[in-house]
Amino acid sequence: MKLTNKIAVITGGARGIGLAIAQRYLSEGASVVVADIDRGAIDDALATLQQQAPAEKVMGVELNVCDQTSIDAMVKTVIERFSGIDILVNNAAIFDMAPVLEVTEESFDKQFAVNTKGMFFTLQAVARSMVARGQGGKIINMASQAGRRGEALVSVYCASKAAVISLTQSSGLDLIKHRINVNGIAPGVVDTPMWEEVDALFARFENRPLGEKKRLVGEAVPFGRMGLPEDHTGAALFLASQDSDYVVAQTLNVDGGNWMS
Ligand SMILES: NC(=O)c1ccc[n+]([C@@H]2O[C@H](COP(=O)([O-])OP(=O)(O)OC[C@H]3O[C@@H](n4cnc5c(N)ncnc54)[C@H](O)[C@@H]3O)[C@@H](O)[C@H]2O)c1
Repeated sequence: MKLTNKIAVITGGARGIGLAIAQRYLSEGASVVVADIDRGAIDDALATLQQQAPAEKVMGVELNVCDQTSIDAMVKTVIERFSGIDILVNNAAIFDMAPVLEVTEESFDKQFAVNTKGMFFTLQAVARSMVARGQGGKIINMASQAGRRGEALVSVYCASKAAVISLTQSSGLDLIKHRINVNGIAPGVVDTPMWEEVDALFARFENRPLGEKKRLVGEAVPFGRMGLPEDHTGAALFLASQDSDYVVAQTLNVDGGNWMS
């Protein structure tokens, strides 16, 4: 087991990719904290995780990454319950899309508030606790293939994820002196609740039947299908474990070859 006695916080961990990472970390010996804005989803996630490991190894915390008070309270609560935080997976995000001429200020601000600012200030708060503890740590930021190129209908989400890749580079360079590794993962297209929302938006803006866009993007992946949440857990384990100690400020594509194609 690669994460014995480690404490991992996973934002947006109540469903989708975050929940799959929580399950993998648990199976590798870590204690996991599911930190999410959705209380009902947290409770469902805890029920799932507690089938896998003793209740004392899992914790749910309500967190809104857009709210500094909420971030600070989450860090305090976790440190009170466990000895500190060893691993942070900055996974919470939201998606929206619209043609450039129709993007609203509200949509722009909300996506940047969660995906970029929320990601950064959660990283900062957890990194401060890691520095104070003096045992280093691992921080993994969930980026996207969307952060590597523009998309006509997805300008703001793409920009928010490009910023995640950039912040991963700068934070990685600044924090490695504290033996905190900051790296990222860039998924391609992944079959999660988020993609149900993405598909519905494409149906609206590209005038397609529901489900068609999802089918087409899956068929276009060189691997031959959409990603599943569990396809990302190997990379998340690598970046959380000692195996990646010399890996700094990188964002790893885990996308079935989608970006390369
Ligand atoms: N699904 C994909 O195709 C895909 C592709 C590339 C990148 N990603 C990225 O992977 C990550 C996980 O994606 P997913 O598909 O599992 O998403 P998801 O929508 O299924 O889950 C996201 C979770 O984040 C939580 N969340 C939303 N706003 C929050 C906030 N303000 N504070 C705390 N929690 C909040 C939600 O409640 C939810 O549980 C995201 O960063 C996403 O951008 C997903």
